[in-house]
Amino acid sequence: MTTGMTTERANFGSKLGIILATAGSAVGLGNVWRFPYMTGHNGGAAFILIYLGCILLLGIPGMVSEFIVGRHSHANAARAYASVTTSKRWGAIGLLGILTSTIILGFYAVVAGWCLYYLWAAVTGDFGGQAESAQLYFQQFTGDALRPALLAIGFILITHIIIVRGVRDGIERASKLLMPLLFILLLVIVGASCSLPGASGGVEFLLKPDFSKVTADVFLEALGQAFFSLSLGTACLCTYASYFNHHTPLLRSASQIAVVDFIIALLAGLMIFPAAFSVGVEPDSGPSLIFITLPTVFRQAFSFMPLLGWAVSVMFYALLVFAALTSTISMHEIGTAFFHEELKIKRSQAAWILTVVCSVIAMLCALSVARPAIQVLGKPLMDFCDLLTAQVMLPTGALLTSILIGWYAPRKLVHDEFSNYSSSTPTLLFRTYLFSVRYVVPLCIVLILLHQFGVL
Ligand code: TRP
Repeated sequence: MTTGMTTERANFGSKLGIILATAGSAVGLGNVWRFPYMTGHNGGAAFILIYLGCILLLGIPGMVSEFIVGRHSHANAARAYASVTTSKRWGAIGLLGILTSTIILGFYAVVAGWCLYYLWAAVTGDFGGQAESAQLYFQQFTGDALRPALLAIGFILITHIIIVRGVRDGIERASKLLMPLLFILLLVIVGASCSLPGASGGVEFLLKPDFSKVTADVFLEALGQAFFSLSLGTACLCTYASYFNHHTPLLRSASQIAVVDFIIALLAGLMIFPAAFSVGVEPDSGPSLIFITLPTVFRQAFSFMPLLGWAVSVMFYALLVFAALTSTISMHEIGTAFFHEELKIKRSQAAWILTVVCSVIAMLCALSVARPAIQVLGKPLMDFCDLLTAQVMLPTGALLTSILIGWYAPRKLVHDEFSNYSSSTPTLLFRTYLFSVRYVVPLCIVLILLHQFGVL
């Protein structure tokens, strides 16, 4: 344990606060925006089953491992990883995580900026109700880089302000109120979407698996999506766990967060696909999917009471912006904690470093959506950042963490953290966890990565 650090560092105030803030990091655009378009792209229900498998088999053990690293050290990501064994070199995993989350924050802020714009459009009742006009509306907005770039930077600045106010005041208080609200609103919109004519096709697409669509790529995308959605593989969970106290049950918290995260993603699917099928939008239409289908739900499903439709749409985008915010906060916090503690500068100064770097990435990403000619390795920069992080950097971070905890960390440390220093934790549970971080997680990730690079 780093002496002195624990007293200076913030702690989460309550048990519920910890779970909500960590769940707030997990629940975000990954669930509502990325999960539906990945599901649409990979053929529906079969993808969801594989995704669920990835969460149970790799996600939960991976989360517990990051929690162990973070809570053991009560320090920023790089120092936390360096303090697990006597070899400081493992700190590189933390550095990789900081780099990954900085890139993610860059492109994530662009989508969060789109949501901000749609919040405004919902307030003014501006977006089209028909699928074609909604599509045109989205293309016109993202086709001009200036507004999306400014909105993305604005979003990063909002994140910055909250980060500077500190952990308990900023992150925890807001999560407590707004997370449950998002959940309830999702249920309302799912109901509305499923009531549209022809919606049953979408429900079937989500719930009836067609295994002929499953290729090796589907596994890779499911793995990337699972890690992205759980905020796994960038030391984000490790950073949050460094604020946990010694009573936080790690396995139970990881499982609860994974369940909440999965349910929210599934609800987002149930909200979007019935509507997409009802109005004839292709389920595989990519990142624009939710921005095209949702305006239709609001306009058509609530046509009997437009005022209600208006209120629901405004509330929905407001909560989506909030969900994105609790996620961007967690990405920002990783680097901020690192620079603050390692360079020994003020938190606000550390936060500025992140804010400036991420703003530059966000600007370039927004530009690459408007001018797809701005490419890296044949893909627009925005897509490239998304794929590089979700399908290479996150799995690599999780793989290395798993190897560290499974093979190199002192067994006593792992056991103490896993069991909260109590001897009442069933041995079988610990053995199963250990087996999975030693063998299952590394093997599965390596196989999937080897396939990605064309070796298998
Ligand atoms: N999990 C978040 C979402 O689903 C995104 C996110 C937040 C994230 N922090 C992260 C992804 C760290 C990877 C790493 O929207």
